[in-house]
Order: sequence, then structure tokens, then C-alpha cells
Amino acid sequence: MTALLSQSPLNSQSPVIAQSRLVGTGVRVPLVQGGDIDYVNLDYAASAPALREVADHVAALLPLYSSVHRGAGYASQVSTEVYEAARVEVARFVGARPDDVVIFTRNTTDALNLLASAVPGDVVHLDIEHHANLLPWQLRGGRAVVAEPTIEGTLAALEAELRRAPAALVAVTGASNVTGECLPLDLVAAIAHRHGARLAVDGAQLVPHRRIDISRSGVDYLAFSGHKLYAPYGAGVLIGARDWLDAAPPYLAGGGAVRHVGLDGTTWADVPARHEAGTPNVLGAAALAQACRALAARPDGEAPEREEHLLRRLSSGLHALGIEPLRIWPEAADATADGTSRIDVVGIVTFAVPGYDAEQVAAFLSAEHGIGVRDGRFCAHPLLARLTSSATAVRASLGLDSSEADVDRLLSALAALVSDGPRWTYSRIDGQVAPSPETRTLPQFLGGATLRAAAGECDDDPTVV
Ligand code: ALA
Repeated sequence: MTALLSQSPLNSQSPVIAQSRLVGTGVRVPLVQGGDIDYVNLDYAASAPALREVADHVAALLPLYSSVHRGAGYASQVSTEVYEAARVEVARFVGARPDDVVIFTRNTTDALNLLASAVPGDVVHLDIEHHANLLPWQLRGGRAVVAEPTIEGTLAALEAELRRAPAALVAVTGASNVTGECLPLDLVAAIAHRHGARLAVDGAQLVPHRRIDISRSGVDYLAFSGHKLYAPYGAGVLIGARDWLDAAPPYLAGGGAVRHVGLDGTTWADVPARHEAGTPNVLGAAALAQACRALAARPDGEAPEREEHLLRRLSSGLHALGIEPLRIWPEAADATADGTSRIDVVGIVTFAVPGYDAEQVAAFLSAEHGIGVRDGRFCAHPLLARLTSSATAVRASLGLDSSEADVDRLLSALAALVSDGPRWTYSRIDGQVAPSPETRTLPQFLGGATLRAAAGECDDDPTVV
């Protein structure tokens, strides 16, 4: 990112850069019609750029980067200290109980797969989940509950399922990665606990937007990712009650997860080491902890209010263009219209533009307007299938450096598309919609070759659009 910034002659003078909290805000990107423009990042929900404090922290640690738990050298001792201190910071950030364990993983998907290997019984989940919080349960025979059109109905359906047959775990999303809608976790926890189940929350989209206190809200397990929390250095985390995890077989077999190894058998370590075999990602953990530290220091309440304002601006602008965001719970629409809904909604808006495939819209926004959004089914196929008949959709997601200007750039680009259509031509190349001809190139430090069509999205069948 820093290198990319230094490619642009305009960036060094940009006041946006000076004030931004994130690496990359205000970076210039090429347009297919020629020239360049400040990049508008509206794809925070997929991967958020690094906080400056995080990037600086990692740069400061690099000279002392060394092995964790494996070396007597000074650098190794420092790295071990940093890694273990990261657990404490992450635990504090989410209000973990004193006996909760923090296990570093690669990301939320990894964390929930780890939990799935440890749950001693049935799992109940909703049908609105991201694949990270659906496929690990489906693989072990999880019971999917169909979310009702109201929150109350959805909670009642969950409770009815637990009454019908007991479960060890209820697993739900904290905030939908498609609609931004949030479940009332304290109510879900109360239902789960009433029926003898624990609650696991996929916090990938919630934690970057809201402070969560897992002990107060009754969440037993929480998973989230550094790459969505402004710490894109390859670490995620699972936090929660240690008994199931201590009793589970090691998630990965290997060095670091053991107490003693003989050729005829192994004594495994307790958590967290039990599930962290191999050399740990100390920079990823340190980055995640630094992001937690930085976000905890924000003035309380600032982020949700700012975000709600931008969300209302975006939603009403889309409405004026005849575009309505997808919703699981219709009453949540109130939150973006007048701010009075009982349902909290984080800064994620997914929509379809009449007359255009989602892929065309995303390619147009990128190529002609320098705006980054995500299109597709967002690794939430069952949810997309029930929310829209158009197979795929476009998602704009907000983050720490999002501004009114970003929202307005998106709205005016969509207005131009709706009224005049694209100005460039596009064709399908290797299954992906791309400008034709493509004139944009990679930055010089990456070789300067012409951009190729983006590789196929993780969750999309290219024949679908
Ligand atoms: N799960 C991420 C998203 O929703 C990748 O975009």
C-alpha cells in the first residue's frame, strides 16, 4: 500500500492522506478512459485496509521479528512476549471472561472450523449465514433454521428448534455480511442458554463496526478476522470457553501443540497451544492486537453515529434512483430511513441495479469511476437465493475512512449508469466482465502490465450472471 501511494505524484500533497486513519485512503487509481482519480473504497466488508497505527506497529516489530516459543535469543523472547500479550489485548477488547481462551487462527472461517471440531453435540444455525458460519456446521449435520421476516419471528423459530431437539451450540452471525443487519445477541444468548446450548457468534462483520462485550451479552464463543478489522496480516481469532477446546483433538497436529512426543504416542498441550501447531503468525497477532488497542481508544459511540449518517445518505440516495437495499428483516429498513428501528444495521448495503448484471455494475464503477465494491453472492448463497431473484447483487460497505464524498461518488456514478449507461464497452473475459479494451495497468513497481480480468470470485459460478 505504502509503495502504491508513493507511485502517485498527487498523493503526497493530498490532505485526505494526511488526515486519514488508514493506509491507502486517497490512493490514486487509473480510469479506463484515461487519467486517474482518488480511489473510493466501498469494499471494507471484504478486506479492510490497515490502520496506520497497525502498519507502524508491524514495521517497528519487524527488526525484532523472530520465532515464538522456540528461541532463547532476545528477538525470540520479544516476539514471544508480543504474541502472548496480543491474546490479552484481544480478550480485553471483546470483554472476555477471565477463563476464556484466545486462540489465534488464520481468519473467521478457520476459527469456526476449529470450533466445529470441538463441539460435543448438535449445532443449530440460521439460514442467513456467511459460508464460514454455515459450512462447518453443515459438514457435521448442523440444523439450519430459516429466519422469519421479523426478528421476533426468527428468535421464536430458533427457540422452537431448540425446544424440538436439544443442541450443544447455537451459531449465528453478529452482523450479516450481505445486509449489515444485526441480531440482538443478548436475546439469542438467553434463548440458547435457556435450552442448555452455548452461543457462538460469527463476529467478522460486527466487530469492525461495534464494540462487543461477550461476557455481558452472554456470547460463549466469538470469531473474527484481522483482515476486516484493519489488521490485514493474516490472523483471525477464536475466543471463548476453554473446556470444549481442551477436550477436542488438536486442530492441527504438529510442533508447538504438544507436551511430549514419543514414537508410540503423544501428550498434547492444553489450549491455546493445543490448537496452534506450527510457527505462529506473530505479526498477524500483533497487528490484530494493535487494531484492538487503536479501536478501543476511539471516542465511544463515534463510529456508529458517523456510520449511521453515511448509511442513511447512501440508502436515501439509492432510493431516489429506484434502488432498494436487500433486507432480511423488513423493519430494519427503518434504521436507514429515520434511525428509529430497533434493529441495528452496520455500514453494509447490497442492491441490484435494474437492467444491469451485478458484475457489469461493479466493473463499470471500477473502470470508469475508480470505485471499489464487491459483486456476487458474497459467500452467502442461501441468503442471496432467498433475498433476490437476480442471482447476484452489488455490495457497498463502509469503514473508518468512508466519507460523504465517497457515498456521493457512488451515487452519482450509479445515477450516470441508470440514465446514460456505461461509456465504455465491456465483455466477458475468462468468465469475468471486464472493460474491452482494458487500458489500465498495474503500478510500475508491480511491472506495469495491463490489468487482467479479476480472477473468479470465491463463491460465484461464472455461468450465473
Ligand atoms: N466474507 C467476506 C465478504 O463478505 C469476504 O466479502
